[in-house]
Amino acid sequence: MAENQKRRPQGGPRMGGGPMMGVPAQKAKDFKGTLKRLVSYLKPQRTRFVMVFFMAIMSTVFTISGPKIMGKATTKLGEGILGLYTHQIKLMYAIQQKLPASTIEKIKSESVPLVDFEYIGKILLLLLGLYVISALFSFGMSFIMSSVAQNTVYTMRKDVKDKLDKLPLKYFDGHTHGEVLSRITNDMDTIATTLQQSLTQLITSFVSVVGILVMMLSISPVMTLIALLTLPMSMMITVFIAKKSQKYFSEQQRSLGTLNGHVEEMYTGHKIVKAFGHEEDSINEFVKINGELYDVAWKAQFMSGIVFPALNFVNNLGYVLVCVVGGLMVAKNKIEIGDIQAFIQYIRQFTQPIVQIANITNIIQSTIASAERVFEVLDEEEEVPDEVQFQEIGDFKGHVAFDHVRFGYSEDQILMEDISVNVEEGSTIAIVGPTGAGKTTMINLLMRFYELNGGSIRIDGVDISKMRRGDLRGLFGMVLQDTWLFKGSIRDNIAYGRENATEEEIVKAADLAHAHHFITTLPDGYDTILNEEASNISQGQKQLLTIARAILADPRILILDEATSNVDTRTEVLIQKAMNNLMYGRTSFVIAHRLSTIRDADLILVMNQGTIIEQGNHETLLTQNGFYANLYNSQFSEE
Ligand SMILES: Nc1ncnc2c1ncn2[C@@H]1O[C@H](COP(=O)(O)OP(=O)(O)OP(=O)(O)O)[C@@H](O)[C@H]1O
Ligand SMILES: [Mg+2]
Repeated sequence: MAENQKRRPQGGPRMGGGPMMGVPAQKAKDFKGTLKRLVSYLKPQRTRFVMVFFMAIMSTVFTISGPKIMGKATTKLGEGILGLYTHQIKLMYAIQQKLPASTIEKIKSESVPLVDFEYIGKILLLLLGLYVISALFSFGMSFIMSSVAQNTVYTMRKDVKDKLDKLPLKYFDGHTHGEVLSRITNDMDTIATTLQQSLTQLITSFVSVVGILVMMLSISPVMTLIALLTLPMSMMITVFIAKKSQKYFSEQQRSLGTLNGHVEEMYTGHKIVKAFGHEEDSINEFVKINGELYDVAWKAQFMSGIVFPALNFVNNLGYVLVCVVGGLMVAKNKIEIGDIQAFIQYIRQFTQPIVQIANITNIIQSTIASAERVFEVLDEEEEVPDEVQFQEIGDFKGHVAFDHVRFGYSEDQILMEDISVNVEEGSTIAIVGPTGAGKTTMINLLMRFYELNGGSIRIDGVDISKMRRGDLRGLFGMVLQDTWLFKGSIRDNIAYGRENATEEEIVKAADLAHAHHFITTLPDGYDTILNEEASNISQGQKQLLTIARAILADPRILILDEATSNVDTRTEVLIQKAMNNLMYGRTSFVIAHRLSTIRDADLILVMNQGTIIEQGNHETLLTQNGFYANLYNSQFSEE
């Protein structure tokens, strides 16, 4: 029984820190609607749910009957011992009173009712059986519930994944990575844990409370009344302390958030912090936040820490009362001694499920809030679906036309008013212009990462909005401004450009991109594993790998957005030559700040503030003596 006093109700792993009381649950905006929708996810698992429900009830019922049956053994034991004592006392009395020897002999020969060990043994066996059956039901319940929970979140995760594929890039512009990520991981996890643990706990707790109450009433209504008297007092204490600690818990969470934010910022930017000599400030800031956290955390933990001692105290009062009243009743032969023992056990078990239910309501609230966040993603507006009657480019030539294109990342802020460009098949187009001019945006539109607000873009006469996105994007190979490499070997990263590429092809592509040399100087060569941020190779080397990837992909249209911006000028020229081979006869778009690299382009588009202000080849633009000439001359004179 002692363990019951120590055992704290647990609210699942998320509540790890302090006990549940006071941790403010996040609230869902539409509790009912979300709950309904969550339940609809569980519908396919209906049969299994019913089984879990049944098993939970059985398991609890078998456990609850334990004390009562154990009481029977206690009573029997008591009876046996009592009989023995009565006999002994009778005998001693006879000897003391010097009763006649015949009487003493008679008493001696009386058969003393021995402790009925056989009966007790049977009861213990029965108990063992009950507990084993209960455990079996409990195992079965966890087993089925695991698959219910995992199946449900599996489906949800799949739905979210499908949804994310259909969301326009606009959505990701408006939501941070962390936010999207947290919905797929943390929120899903919360839902899974709740389904797995809290739901079965809720069922067993309910059954326990009702079951225990029934058992207690069946033993003695009077004693039950006394035991229940302490309940309102316990509740008052809990509510009082919870109210107090809630404030501290919110503050604790806020401080913790600030601390985390500070540490993360300082850690990820620790080179900058050092470079600017801000170590001292950073440490002071940390000490300050840490101090605040200490203060509130101390109070919050203390407050929640006194809940259980206080509850115990009240419980013990009731416990003493029950023992006294129970003892009197046994003395008056109103109830059996074993029943008292069972009753005391029931009281001990009674508070736990009640606290647990209170705790779980909190958890369910935050779970619904989590589910709501997941559903929010599912309800986001999707990108325009591919046309059912999609068009394909029959004989690919590579003619690209921007026709009165109008576009803005948001409706009310139009970046491009009216852009028209005609790109001859097989030509190389350079896009130049100051930072923020809209160069990358042109590419984004060409790849249909964003939908136009007006006008059209056509490839070989086919409107790209009439094509399937997959077909369209399959035409392009690109090397982007921000290199994207994944955790894996250099070989796999290059081979990402084309499935089933042979070793020879990979090496050849790397060679053309001038990456082969640096790769072979690495200890593991092509097997070198790049880490998550690919920070174990240099920026320029990263670019070389992405160029190799594009070369290997051998696309119809090549896009290079600042592809060599981090590579030294000599290597750049070499890559340029290799690229010229690759780009020969193929439509390609090249964005570059270093104008020397695009001198040979067939068409140079000079952009500024979302419009094309000049276009033509290098020579004509120079003779125009405008924006481009200015830009070029300034770079030239610098060098
Ligand atoms: N995802 C986005 N959401 C909203 N606005 C954006 C987004 N991407 C770019 N912009 C804005 O559109 C304008 C053009 O950006 P773009 O990336 O096309 O410039 P850029 O010419 O490629 O510049 P850089 O030379 O620096 O790469 C900028 O003002 C930029 O702030
Ligand atoms: Mg750009």
